[in-house]
Amino acid sequence: MEFQIEAASIKYLDIFYRIELQCFNEEAFAKQQIAYLLTDFNTIALDAKSGADIAGFIIAQIEFEDQEYGHIITLNIAPKYRHKGVATKLLAEIESYLRRRGIRECRLEVREDNHAAIKLYHKLGYQTIGKLERYYGKKHGFYLKKSL
Ligand SMILES: CC(C)(COP(=O)(O)OP(=O)(O)OC[C@H]1O[C@@H](n2cnc3c(N)ncnc32)[C@H](O)[C@@H]1OP(=O)(O)O)[C@@H](O)C(=O)NCCC(=O)NCCS
Repeated sequence: MEFQIEAASIKYLDIFYRIELQCFNEEAFAKQQIAYLLTDFNTIALDAKSGADIAGFIIAQIEFEDQEYGHIITLNIAPKYRHKGVATKLLAEIESYLRRRGIRECRLEVREDNHAAIKLYHKLGYQTIGKLERYYGKKHGFYLKKSL
């Protein structure tokens, strides 16, 4: 299956929100939050398309602590498109964009029991650098980073 990566447009907001709900329950972003993220000047948002269908999307922001770094805010792949390398492709694309902007680090948070995502990030070179106590309600999270 072929996937095309493109800049994520607000015109697909309803689809992105539907995928967000398929991926997360109580932690899902509200539609308005996704709309804000898609249009904020400091955000990079990409989607992966299979034909006319949207398979998934990723949103990152550029933040600052001593130096600029990329912060992955959300990564969502629709259930029927999982295990096909879509998340890997979206992360590779966003990391390459960050590198082109001279950014040398990417960070993200993940829930401690999200084994699929933790395996994905470790496979792609992200390292766990800390634990985030009760970051997701009662659940803890991990803080990961990767040098680009
Ligand atoms: C986690 C998620 C993003 C993975 O997306 P994906 O497109 O299926 O991932 P890929 O096909 O690129 O997988 C790459 C690697 O990730 C790991 N992985 C992905 N899904 C996995 C699963 N269900 N169980 C274990 N490892 C998994 C594997 O190491 C895999 O490599 P392999 O195919 O050689 O085994 C997807 O399951 C998803 O959207 N989940 C819900 C939302 C979410 O958790 N987002 C991340 C929040 S931090």
